[in-house]
Amino acid sequence: MDQPGTSKAITKFLLHLHPPRINAQAIKYTRTFGLGGIAALLFVLLFITGMLLRFIYVPSEKGAYDSIIYLQEQVLFGELLRNMHYWSGMLLVIVSFLHVIRVFYSQSIYFERRKNWIYGLVLMFLVIMSNFTGYLLPWDQLAYWAVTIMTNMLSYIPVIGETLASLVRGGTEVNEGTLLRFYHFHTGLLPLLMVFVMSIHFWLVRKAKGVTVADASKKEMVKTNPELVYKEIVVALGLILLLIVFSMAVDAPLLDKANPLVSPNPSKAPWYFMGFQELLLHMHPGFGIFIVPVLVTAFLVYIPFIKDTNVNTGVWFNSAVGKKITIWSAIYAIVFTMLIIVGTEYVLNFQQWMQDLPVLITTGLLPIVIYVAPTYGFLLLIKNKLKAGKIEMIMALVTILLTGYLVMTFVGSLLRGEGMHLFA
Ligand code: HEM
Repeated sequence: MDQPGTSKAITKFLLHLHPPRINAQAIKYTRTFGLGGIAALLFVLLFITGMLLRFIYVPSEKGAYDSIIYLQEQVLFGELLRNMHYWSGMLLVIVSFLHVIRVFYSQSIYFERRKNWIYGLVLMFLVIMSNFTGYLLPWDQLAYWAVTIMTNMLSYIPVIGETLASLVRGGTEVNEGTLLRFYHFHTGLLPLLMVFVMSIHFWLVRKAKGVTVADASKKEMVKTNPELVYKEIVVALGLILLLIVFSMAVDAPLLDKANPLVSPNPSKAPWYFMGFQELLLHMHPGFGIFIVPVLVTAFLVYIPFIKDTNVNTGVWFNSAVGKKITIWSAIYAIVFTMLIIVGTEYVLNFQQWMQDLPVLITTGLLPIVIYVAPTYGFLLLIKNKLKAGKIEMIMALVTILLTGYLVMTFVGSLLRGEGMHLFA
């Protein structure tokens, strides 16, 4: 039967996003948890609310904070609009992160999906940068000092650090130039880049014949419309409703207007960078802000290129052993990272104990050895005990790095107070 005009147009549009028929396993919610789609919807919501915010927001040192107050107090639904933009942005960081976890642990990053993993990593970077550049725009104490801390961290990168930090700030400290730079990145360049990379990302999912399925031998196909499309509509409406209700109940933070002369104690980075700020409390900045992140990023890029015939594409944790290993690695990372954090707060202080040695050793190499040596021992132990393959060992290592970062984020954000002391 012929479809009416509008319905035909909608179907045509949908076929740009999805193939006409898909594997029945792919539409089970536990396959993807809809996370990629939710991230895409959040991006659209951010775009719409952001465009509306631009009508009121004034990107200058004098006008920014007052324009936010005006928006919240004088504009109809202004506060709701700001809250929705703020919470969508935070949720996009969390959802993208969970999406990375899902594609990684469901072995959806190997073979023909390799390239998409790399584009995905670029997208994650863009999501975080978009959030971070938006963070400064309200120009309140929270924003000003969080960005001051982050740009100071940049200056620790060897050789180019100082130049890079002043390029980002447009001077030696966060000022109107920084605000303008961040505004243009946040509302211009970054969204444009995201649309571009997202288009490639979606196209590569289609090129790989859709998302991974757990059992490739089962070939039952279903019609994308309505089987998948209806589910997507339900998730989208649910998410929008949840966001509206949450944004009505919880306001985006806004402290006093930025004051470069009065720094709050403690001054903290945005929560998703708190892991780095925590790391810097235990380690030489050159290691914490440069060597460790570069090594970890290089490892993440390299993972899908590791040669192994034991990849069970689409299978959560690759095997029963993989699941066990992931759980044990997470437990190990929680306990060991907490031990190190508490230990360095109250007992371990190589710099004080070995004052004659260069700080690069006492606060760089030694903390790394303290973390790496037992971790290596743990990995060897589980490899031998559980007879794990390469893929399982990669999951173990990623789990330790990931959980370690999450523990540091938790401690830095919630357990540190005045002077960045524990439980202060
Ligand atoms: C704004 C951010 C992002 C959006 C909108 C997005 C969107 C999507 C969508 C719609 C899918 C297909 C459905 C699904 O898997 O849920 C997908 C798949 C995929 N994404 Fe993303 N994604 C984003 C970020 C990332 C990141 C940060 C990574 C990795 C670092 C990543 C890696 C992948 C991979 C490898 C697939 C293929 C999975 C499979 O075939 O099963 N994506 N993405």
